[in-house]
Amino acid sequence: MTTTQIRPTTELTALIDGVRTAIAAHADWSGTAQLVAQQLRRHLPSPDVVDTDESGGYQILHVEPDGSFSIIGLVWRPGQITRIHDHLTWCVFGVLQGVEREELFDADLNLIGVSDNLAGDVSGFAPPGDIHRVHNTAGTTAISIHIYGTDVTRVGSSVRRYYD
Ligand SMILES: [Fe+2]
Repeated sequence: MTTTQIRPTTELTALIDGVRTAIAAHADWSGTAQLVAQQLRRHLPSPDVVDTDESGGYQILHVEPDGSFSIIGLVWRPGQITRIHDHLTWCVFGVLQGVEREELFDADLNLIGVSDNLAGDVSGFAPPGDIHRVHNTAGTTAISIHIYGTDVTRVGSSVRRYYD
């Protein structure tokens, strides 16, 4: 995957303000993920904020100047699947188009849950217990938006580790 430049868009303004409000509550990671998920449900943007013409699937849409969060757009081609991984911080995601199947694993990499997330579905989670894999099981391109509680341009990635 390639990373593209930040694409300024006014469509994200209300969402960015909402995430700032959620973080200002100073809840723990799990609580913050739920508060940010509420904001994303309220301000879910259209798929147009993510550029599907880009060859790479990973687009940085916003990095908060104080480094407290980043908003990423992801394009998933039919059949595309991630490696099994977990994250450095809380994460909230919403599906804007298509279907994303999420498979959740325990620490021994046993599959413990599967959910098919459809357009409009939003969920939030926080480590530990966030070992997962995401798979576009449909025959059409899926688009999602992800919010991570860190500056992904500084730490390089939101992934803590891969499990292969
Ligand atoms: Fe992930």
